[in-house]
Amino acid sequence: MRAVVLVGGEGTRLRPLTSTVPKPVVTLVDRPFLAYMLEWLARHGVDEVVLACGFLPTKLRDALGDGSRYGLHLTYVEEPEPRGTGGAVRFADEQLDGGLGERFLVLNGDVLTDLDLGAQIARHDEAGARGTLALVPVEDPTAYGLVRLGAGGAVAGFLEKPKIEEIDTNLISAGAYVLERDVLDLIPPDRNVSIEREVWPALVGAGLHGHAHEGAYWLDIGTPDRYLQGSSDILAGNVRSGVTERLDAHGIARGGDCVVDGHLHGPTLLGDGVHIAEGAVVGAHTVLGDRVRIEPGATVTAAVVLEDAVIGRGSTVREAIVAPGARIGADCTVTGGAVVGPGVVLGAGNVLDRGARVFPGVRLPDGALAF
Ligand code: GDD
Ligand code: MG
Repeated sequence: MRAVVLVGGEGTRLRPLTSTVPKPVVTLVDRPFLAYMLEWLARHGVDEVVLACGFLPTKLRDALGDGSRYGLHLTYVEEPEPRGTGGAVRFADEQLDGGLGERFLVLNGDVLTDLDLGAQIARHDEAGARGTLALVPVEDPTAYGLVRLGAGGAVAGFLEKPKIEEIDTNLISAGAYVLERDVLDLIPPDRNVSIEREVWPALVGAGLHGHAHEGAYWLDIGTPDRYLQGSSDILAGNVRSGVTERLDAHGIARGGDCVVDGHLHGPTLLGDGVHIAEGAVVGAHTVLGDRVRIEPGATVTAAVVLEDAVIGRGSTVREAIVAPGARIGADCTVTGGAVVGPGVVLGAGNVLDRGARVFPGVRLPDGALAF
């Protein structure tokens, strides 16, 4: 079976992490984010994946190749301009030899999940549905597509980004669909079409079903807070992934040539060539990318520090993201979901908190910020 993965969004809410790298290939723990989705699809027997791309497709290709290392075959389709979540599926079908087939899967490319696609496909078959949406419960459906389920699993209503007063269920669309070919007829060609706003409403009462996944892990990775949540959950084994098998009995994974003179608390993952100086403390729930250097007395907890970044002497980084090549000076505090962009240089004594974001190319002098 073929699967289309929608990866054409710009990932603006994850900036500056996505200022230089498209969201699907931003590193999550130890691999490109999309690798988790490809590994998950491969486990469910999907052998052909079409990546519906808009933004920076060359970087996607460089990072993911032909898919063989994930056990499937990858094809890249580039839209001339963004076609929207529905238009992208139709465009992919037109571009492929033999099209998408009689039945195919569509996945939002920004989701980390281990939900059981096999069970969803079985439900789709039993119901004789034209389309079946994966459903998961969330606390606040306002940022998602709310789904009202009717008798026998038929969808009785679909509301994209509902207003608070419209919310009468906690079930939302998880961004994983099983579709029959004739659904493509509901997508007008050659223009931007939102599958959520134009296609699902037209299919309500006409063959749209939902399958509520119980107890599955599901996270839309689109914001810095959720990116941190995702890394932490991967390390803790809350979501099934290939990372868990790399962790030792203390929950620690380390790449080659690491020098650890400070303290490590698992679950934590170190890339290759990481250097943790004396008196530094790293972990728990922390990722240090390749060649990261943690200077004496620094503390890094529940954080992600990507490749080639440096955390200065005595600094604290907690619940924050430090992008590749950034350099944090001595005695800084970077906390509260702050994101330090690629290559940023922070002088000594800066304080970043409450979701502060510093964009690429910025150099802050000593003590410039107390956010
Ligand atoms: N190829 C292509 N072209 N992909 C696109 C385009 C486009 O024009 N627009 C968006 N995408 C991709 C995004 O990259 C993302 O992977 C996916 O489609 C969904 O778009 P988002 O922008 O992330 O949508 P959302 O998160 O606000 O809402 C969607 O996902 C929710 C679950 O996370 C909707 O499908 C909701 O109904 C759903 O609940
Ligand atoms: Mg999203």
